[in-house]
Amino acid sequence: MSPHAIIIDTDPGQDDAVAIMLALASPELNVLAVTAVAGNVPLHRTETNARMVVEASGRAEVPVYAGAVRPMLRELVTAEYVHGPTGIDGANLPEPTIELAEGHAVQAIIRHVQESPDPVTICPLGPLTNVALALLLDPSIAENIDQIVLMGGGYFEGGNVTPAAEFNIYVDPHAAHVVFTSGIDIVMLPLDVTHKALVTNTETKRFADIGNRCGAAVAGMIGFYARYDIEKLGSKGAPIHDPNVIAYLLKPELYAGRHCHVEIATDEGPSLGATLVDWWSVTGNEPNALVLHEVDSVGFFELLIDGISRLP
Ligand code: RIB
Ligand code: CA
Repeated sequence: MSPHAIIIDTDPGQDDAVAIMLALASPELNVLAVTAVAGNVPLHRTETNARMVVEASGRAEVPVYAGAVRPMLRELVTAEYVHGPTGIDGANLPEPTIELAEGHAVQAIIRHVQESPDPVTICPLGPLTNVALALLLDPSIAENIDQIVLMGGGYFEGGNVTPAAEFNIYVDPHAAHVVFTSGIDIVMLPLDVTHKALVTNTETKRFADIGNRCGAAVAGMIGFYARYDIEKLGSKGAPIHDPNVIAYLLKPELYAGRHCHVEIATDEGPSLGATLVDWWSVTGNEPNALVLHEVDSVGFFELLIDGISRLP
């Protein structure tokens, strides 16, 4: 079976970095492009971080593009308080020597989807600005996108940036509305599932013990990044959200969920950026997303360790 064509849209972010590494380590996936978007940190950092991670993974041939510098309508909100000033504090990776690929990420998404002989899966790991703009600029690309598998949202778990909203959706709720009303099959990995696979010191040590550069980088990034959630949640571990998107593509059997209608709250106010998941089908609206809720956390971590072990 030919490798699954994907585009990763990302705002590295330590957890994005681990997701990118897992994807680049997996022969089952053909990463057509990595497109950076402003989110966890400003664009000049997310695009640099993306290049650092692609290069450290030994995959310098994968093009990295810079995309939207801010959300469609709202001002950019960043999360250095979680990720540190660089966005991937703890990675201890060298600055990139590979250049940015020519052209804007939005046009790159359109071109790579149009040129792909096989349907493409879009994997957003950050705010949905680039993906929404691509769909608005050329709606016909939906014909060659088989699914959008995204990390974002929260329902029973609520939000992590306001009580109602998860960061990726909150930063650009209007872009999320465009994506969730696009008619493209969506698989949504919200906080409700990512909070069920917490990384603890045990897993962090296992990454360090792999003995390669990427294992050390993952251990360093998780060690830095997890401190925020462990202190905030008072739990023994922290979620690493974004790698769940890639793990789902590699082993969907690790996850379970339900097809639901999801609406994005875009009005200013306390609910802005909420993902209104109709879990009990009370609206009668047609489902527009497979909303994942359960994960085999042991299987997830084994997949992650195995993938990172294959990198330089
Ligand atoms: O809320 C978690 C999400 O927001 C993750 O994708 C993290 O990297 C940030 O982008
Ligand atoms: Ca992210």
